[in-house]
Amino acid sequence: MDKTIVEEIKKLKKQRNAIILAHNYQREEIQDIADFVGDSLELSKKATQVQCDVIVFCGVHFMAETAAILNPDKTVLLPEIEAGCPMADTVNIRELKEWIKKYPNSPVISYVNTTAEVKSLSYACCTSANAPQIVKAVPFDSIIFVPDKNLADWAKKQVPEKEIIPWNGFCPTHHMIKKDDVIRAKNIYPDALVVVHPECRPEVIELADHVASTSGMVRFAKSSQAKEFIIGTEIGLLYRLRKENPDKKFYPLKTNMICPNMKITTLESVLRALKENKYIIQVPEDIRLKAYEAVQRMFNLMS
Ligand code: 13P
Ligand code: SF4
Repeated sequence: MDKTIVEEIKKLKKQRNAIILAHNYQREEIQDIADFVGDSLELSKKATQVQCDVIVFCGVHFMAETAAILNPDKTVLLPEIEAGCPMADTVNIRELKEWIKKYPNSPVISYVNTTAEVKSLSYACCTSANAPQIVKAVPFDSIIFVPDKNLADWAKKQVPEKEIIPWNGFCPTHHMIKKDDVIRAKNIYPDALVVVHPECRPEVIELADHVASTSGMVRFAKSSQAKEFIIGTEIGLLYRLRKENPDKKFYPLKTNMICPNMKITTLESVLRALKENKYIIQVPEDIRLKAYEAVQRMFNLMS
């Protein structure tokens, strides 16, 4: 790790009373300098608890936007403005509004991987850590679920009594995993448990021993008696899994499970963010207030 840059980041962080939040898929050196590393749910909760003037969000755009929705009085910085989420980008507002008109009795539940505007049109948000719980808890028999069709399918299997109208989105990094990839990995590592993310295809999920959000995977690996795990999510999580479980073995389900957007952020971009106040993420107040309600409703439905 570049010690000079790290020292400079630490100094500036102090000067600016800043906190660094990083997603589990971030580069190793970013995870190492972060004040908190977690999944989308943990990071959005953390964003409501931190005492600081500036949040440097090392993740993708919708995550920083969620932090901005929850913290109108803080400066939220996304070090790389190009760090987007192709799945979040599949939701077209005009089309979503048409769906809302077409299905007036089916409110929108949006995966947190959406823009603030989509959240503002939603009854509640959810994350990979709580999607079935939220779908079950909302007081409606039918819902529109955006944008991840795989997460929608996984939630539907656990809450079959609800009708789910799914958007046709998916995460390219998780959706590329096929059934044969799981079979191949199991043949190579017959003693390993298969743990996959709910953004994977239904036929992949069917072959898994456990399905969880990224931090859910970390908790599962820690508490499990098993010593070997095949991990079906973005390979950035392996760093944390190995660091926190040095006595256990973790194998990527596929070595090319890489989200390019999660890898754009470097130590240099974090330093620039703090030095040049780049890039400030702001949400227009009318949209923020409505999006805030959807995120807050998720927290309320969980308790
Ligand atoms: P979680 O870390 O919330 O499981 O989400 C994974 C993901 O793809 C975020 O973009
Ligand atoms: Fe979006 Fe998938 Fe990348 Fe997460 S891993 S940011 S869902 S493209």
